[in-house]
Amino acid sequence: MAQQQKIRKAVFPVAGLGTRFLPATKAVPKEMLTVVDKPVIQYVVDEAAEAGIEHFVFVTGRGKGVIEDYFDIQYELEQMLRERNKNAELTLLAGLLPKAGTASFTRQQVPLGLGHAVWCARDIVGNEPFAVLLPDMIMSAEKGCLKGMVDLYAQTGGNVLAVQECDPEQAHKYGIVGVGDAVGEGFKITQMVEKPAKGTAPSNLYINGRYILQPEIFKILETQERGAGNEIQLTDGMLALAKSQEFAAYPFKGDTFDCGAKDGFILANLAFALQRADIRPAIEGPMKALLASLK
Ligand code: G1P
Repeated sequence: MAQQQKIRKAVFPVAGLGTRFLPATKAVPKEMLTVVDKPVIQYVVDEAAEAGIEHFVFVTGRGKGVIEDYFDIQYELEQMLRERNKNAELTLLAGLLPKAGTASFTRQQVPLGLGHAVWCARDIVGNEPFAVLLPDMIMSAEKGCLKGMVDLYAQTGGNVLAVQECDPEQAHKYGIVGVGDAVGEGFKITQMVEKPAKGTAPSNLYINGRYILQPEIFKILETQERGAGNEIQLTDGMLALAKSQEFAAYPFKGDTFDCGAKDGFILANLAFALQRADIRPAIEGPMKALLASLK
């Protein structure tokens, strides 16, 4: 089996406006909304770190400066915690801080779509395969989604997308793949379509927001025409790249929560809170009582 080039860099497109979550996102980026006690973006960065990512590339936009501050030290706060001997809190913050020089920030100046956002990272990524993690989607599984993809990529090389089943009625909201021969724990992708018209989707397997891509995608995205929603779509760029390169799918088995939508965000809070030994005992009973009281 050929040795694959390591996936060292991950791109986080965090320029999205968060209109599905107004008014909360009027002054707070959606990526900074809290699931239990961490911002959404921290879950996604943790998943990338678990998969061996060494450099975190954030494609931000206006009003997103607080994300950059979050991944920096907060000198006054840390000084105050030291004075008050809040050692557990200091250790927690230190453990979450990216190592100096391993986080980069660039801006998508105009919101032209996901394909354009990824293209904005081209100079920082350079000529090596890389991951893309959509920050709206946070996942819960024993083995992180990107880690599973990196393991499949070690066998397949090329490009790898994570997919999951969706209700066929919902397929028009996503990028959908066509299913080919099995490869490793996944399968070869035969087709990709962004937001297929109702009844035309090639399967009910949707791209869940995790990608391993070869750098040739950047050249394609540079001239990619606008597609669904009049936006420059990453899926359309991948479809063009698939003419010369292989794409494999990694069927992710865990739970995915779309934290860009209210229901997904609330479910994520419930699911992650119930996983916490320090919180579950206090909320389980009241949650059951609340449900039982519903008419
Ligand atoms: C984007 C992608 C789509 C993918 C989806 C997952 O769409 O373009 O292929 O299935 O994320 O959430 P968006 O949610 O930005 O419309």
